[in-house]
Amino acid sequence: MSENPTHPLPSYLHADDLGPWGIYLEQVERVTPYLGKLSKWVETLKRPKRTLIVDIPVELDNGTIAHFEGYRVQHNTSRGPGKGGVRFHQDVTLSEVMALAAWMSVKAAAVNLPFGGAKGGVRIDPRNYSRGELERITRRYTSEIGAIIGPHKDIPAPDVNTNAQTMAWMMDTYSMNKGATTTGVVTGKPVALGGSLGRVEATGRGVFVIGTEAARDAGIPIEGARVVIQGFGNVGGTAARLFYEAGAKVIAVQDHTGCVHNAGGLDVLGLTKHAEEHGGVAGCPGTESLSAAEFWALDTELLIPAALEGQINESNADGIRAKIVIEGANGPTTPEADDILTSKGTLIVPDVLANAGGVTVSYFEWVQDFSSFYWTEPEINHRLEAMMRSAYSAVSAVAKEHRVSQRTAAFITACTRILEARELRGLYP
Ligand SMILES: NC(=O)c1ccc[n+]([C@@H]2O[C@H](COP(=O)([O-])OP(=O)(O)OC[C@H]3O[C@@H](n4cnc5c(N)ncnc54)[C@H](O)[C@@H]3O)[C@@H](O)[C@H]2O)c1
Repeated sequence: MSENPTHPLPSYLHADDLGPWGIYLEQVERVTPYLGKLSKWVETLKRPKRTLIVDIPVELDNGTIAHFEGYRVQHNTSRGPGKGGVRFHQDVTLSEVMALAAWMSVKAAAVNLPFGGAKGGVRIDPRNYSRGELERITRRYTSEIGAIIGPHKDIPAPDVNTNAQTMAWMMDTYSMNKGATTTGVVTGKPVALGGSLGRVEATGRGVFVIGTEAARDAGIPIEGARVVIQGFGNVGGTAARLFYEAGAKVIAVQDHTGCVHNAGGLDVLGLTKHAEEHGGVAGCPGTESLSAAEFWALDTELLIPAALEGQINESNADGIRAKIVIEGANGPTTPEADDILTSKGTLIVPDVLANAGGVTVSYFEWVQDFSSFYWTEPEINHRLEAMMRSAYSAVSAVAKEHRVSQRTAAFITACTRILEARELRGLYP
């Protein structure tokens, strides 16, 4: 009988410096006991399917030539083409892109989208470059990864420091290389170029839908429920408005300028106007300001971190009195804080489920691009709500069956779907 030569780590990784990939590997370890016979395939999840590192040479405005480091990682494509954003950030590393790609595999499978997981990145601080330089960097990066992306292979989207314009340049570059306009190669495009209505609000809308489902499960009526939100940008601002319109009381909001509070409920529309005019929520009339410690300790039904990662941590988790935490941001709760909140009986709806509204409408954008037939915004919102509700109920059922947290349940649901696909397809050759 032959010995299994599988090594836990590929040679390009070092056990003492795994970075975010190490966190992801731990999550897979935790889920493995729940995978039953499918655990035979679990090694599939512990290594990315394809990893591409590219050099991006670009002429800068001053005539010199600069070289940038670019990545595209396809973690898993068992259930469909890769899907995941492109990040422009000076701290991008292979480990980070690998972990983000893996979390996209989990997110797509948790919501049952027919996608695998992928992610891309360019190691650059975009604030240091002109618009023309950024366009050249984007175009050369797209050309370099062009062999492995495509509407049937891997579909990039915006992430940190990239936006609809970046996607327009990526779509144009790919199309020029192919000799045919190919709108479906990226999502998050401007609506004028095959982008989808409803995409801008999609993540916040998904947070709202999941929040109402979780509240209903906990026997909390949304009408009059207290909501506390960190972050008042795309995700937090949209969620705040939708909860407000549904009759909830958004009692506090924190952004980078400070925390505002009104125990009777903030006027969210007035707060939005104030934030637009003053660059943040601080100083909004009709509100009192709070310290960050007071903000986290507010008595509330729903708490929605929708700003940055690691915001709920050992320093504030003990004081949190929210009944339900809905993770609008990616990775807002550290593992230590997760344990503290779970031991107090707080329900945490994990990011891979709660903020999946964005990738869900990206899926709609991709479908619309294929059919060249575009849906109305109400149709999009209706389909988004149906998919988010069904994802929430599938994950909740698994949480109840195994008596595990929703985070573990989302991973069990997702990893089971990915490995079922792996097993059904079989190994080639
Ligand atoms: N936009 C999407 O479609 C989407 C999809 C999935 C996940 N997310 C995640 O949601 C989070 C928010 O994304 P966004 O698109 O709303 O970003 P955004 O830039 O529109 O808004 C970010 C908000 O966070 C606030 N903020 C920044 N630093 C802060 C600090 N130190 N303390 C308190 N507040 C602070 C900002 O003031 C702003 O209100 C991120 O974690 C992002 O990865 C976004």
